[in-house]
Amino acid sequence: MRQTSRRRMVVLCFVVAFGQLMATAGAQNRTSNANANANTTDPLEARALNAMFQRWGISATNDWNISGELCSGVAIDDTQVTTLNPGIKCDCSYNTCHITALRVHAMDVTGPIPDELWNLTYMDDLNLGQNYLTGPIPASIGALVKMHYQGRFHRKLDC
Ligand SMILES: *[C@@H]1O[C@H](CO)[C@@H](O)[C@H](O)[C@H]1NC(C)=O
Ligand SMILES: *[C@@H]1O[C@H](CO)[C@@H](O)[C@H](O)[C@H]1NC(C)=O
Ligand SMILES: *[C@@H]1O[C@H](CO)[C@@H](O)[C@H](O)[C@H]1NC(C)=O
Ligand SMILES: *[C@@H]1O[C@H](CO)[C@@H](O)[C@H](O)[C@H]1NC(C)=O
Repeated sequence: MRQTSRRRMVVLCFVVAFGQLMATAGAQNRTSNANANANTTDPLEARALNAMFQRWGISATNDWNISGELCSGVAIDDTQVTTLNPGIKCDCSYNTCHITALRVHAMDVTGPIPDELWNLTYMDDLNLGQNYLTGPIPASIGALVKMHYQGRFHRKLDC
């Protein structure tokens, strides 16, 4: 009787230990997958930017958006966004890359400020100067939680 319960204990311990081993292996897999994806653009932001550019009839240069990946090349190196047109900069220090800067300067872009802009919630450097953008700033402007553009945005929009 005693021996059976001891054997059960051993089996149980083995099962628990094996389970932990598998869980650890799984966690390691998740970690390496996360690292492999470390420099991919946040999908929501990628969709928003692609939609905006399509709407404006402009496209990214090959110096960024390499193979369809927006946060690549000059978007993630030391290049200043002021030297890119159109250009973006990304912050890849999260699990994913967030678009933090957008410059579309004097590219004859017309129409209302696209709603998609408000999905770029990590944006803190926006320059849409010397275009023909019109219309009200959407009420959802508050969604751009990290954006410090008040004033700057208006100035650049007008210039
Ligand atoms: C970890 O990933 C490899 C392939 O990338 C797979 O063969 C292995 O079964 C995975 N391990 C676990 C515990 O999910
Ligand atoms: C913007 O984000 C909302 C969800 O927050 C989503 O429903 C909408 O489709 C997004 N728009 C674009 C163009 O990505
Ligand atoms: C980035 O590249 C992909 C694939 O080449 C393309 O579909 C997409 O429109 C490009 N995005 C921009 C913003 O130009
Ligand atoms: C990810 O981006 C950072 C810069 O943000 C860069 O230093 C690093 O080399 C990139 N990693 C990969 C795997 O491309």
